[in-house]
Amino acid sequence: MKRRARVEATPEAVQRALLPWYEEHRRDLPWRRTSDPYAVWVSEVMLQQTQVATVRDYYARWMKRFPTVSALAKAEESDVLHAWQGLGYYSRARNLKRGAEAVVERHRGAVPKTVAELLELPGIGPYSAGAISSIAHGERAPIVDGNVVRVLSRLFALRGDPAKAPLEKELWRRAEDLVPSERPGDFNQALMELGATVCTPRSPTCLLCPLRMLCAARRDGIVEELPEIPKREKPIPVHRAAAVVTRGEKVLVVQLRADAPRWAGMWQFPNADVAKGETPEAAAARSVREMTGLVVPVGERLTTVRHSVTRYRITLDVHRSASSRGRPKPVIVSAAEWKTLEELDDLALPSAHRRIANAVQPDD
Ligand code: ADE
Repeated sequence: MKRRARVEATPEAVQRALLPWYEEHRRDLPWRRTSDPYAVWVSEVMLQQTQVATVRDYYARWMKRFPTVSALAKAEESDVLHAWQGLGYYSRARNLKRGAEAVVERHRGAVPKTVAELLELPGIGPYSAGAISSIAHGERAPIVDGNVVRVLSRLFALRGDPAKAPLEKELWRRAEDLVPSERPGDFNQALMELGATVCTPRSPTCLLCPLRMLCAARRDGIVEELPEIPKREKPIPVHRAAAVVTRGEKVLVVQLRADAPRWAGMWQFPNADVAKGETPEAAAARSVREMTGLVVPVGERLTTVRHSVTRYRITLDVHRSASSRGRPKPVIVSAAEWKTLEELDDLALPSAHRRIANAVQPDD
């Protein structure tokens, strides 16, 4: 019988195999050219739910606009949301700002070093704390993200749901065991890099993997079975309707309240769920009435925008409305205003609504 894994995955063995591999294969990314803890913080928060290619541009723009912790702390929330626009999961941007405010107030603008201190800050969880502490400050702290979950589940052939307590704890414990006191940041990034480029969810390239001789899942022939992440629940279709109400050069938009469950503080075209038995036109008109108090006639369909939010697969029918007089009043929103398309450029809109804005011709 062929035996592949002959070496035990001790911390030393893993470090010895992984660090040289990282040296050779690391991608040259802008946030890897700095040890500014704020820059590392920004990049890691962006990278948590967004791909590297997208993050590159956002990161560069963000660092120009808010180059320091104190610049971010002082910024208007609307500008912060605007800079985040299109990245989604906007609570990340609000949390980043809250964290920056706390760093200014409690630490005179100097981002703390240890995981314990970092965890005291609003908006910083175990992942960001470990990333900032190890990558920017060189502290021996573990980090576990989706990529690390996959690498470690396979390396140690760990079964179970990695998002649930027994295995989740075990993964953090293993990561803590592995991380060296020398170059902990490189080591952590190497684990993530391996997960992103070699130890991929499907068709991992085990032949190119520096840990292949140490990998228990490979030895057992179960690489593609791990990690055991429960199948996603089925998407739920949702039908919504939005209205583009015009008055001369301007369109009617509303700003969601600060306590809105999603897109808080961001601007949208009035929109609502299409109720059973209701037409999209009627729902669009109703949304205008419910959000702004204006009664408008709704006309032809301008476009249909499809997008997904968590489990919801949303079909958004967008209807034009003839010009409307009258002064909009914010009803269940925090503002309702007429804006030119140019003015819309400076407001934070969720992607679906940015697409609607792009579909509205300037001479309408
Ligand atoms: N994913 C999130 N942060 C990362 C990093 N610093 N390196 C590689 N992949 C990552």
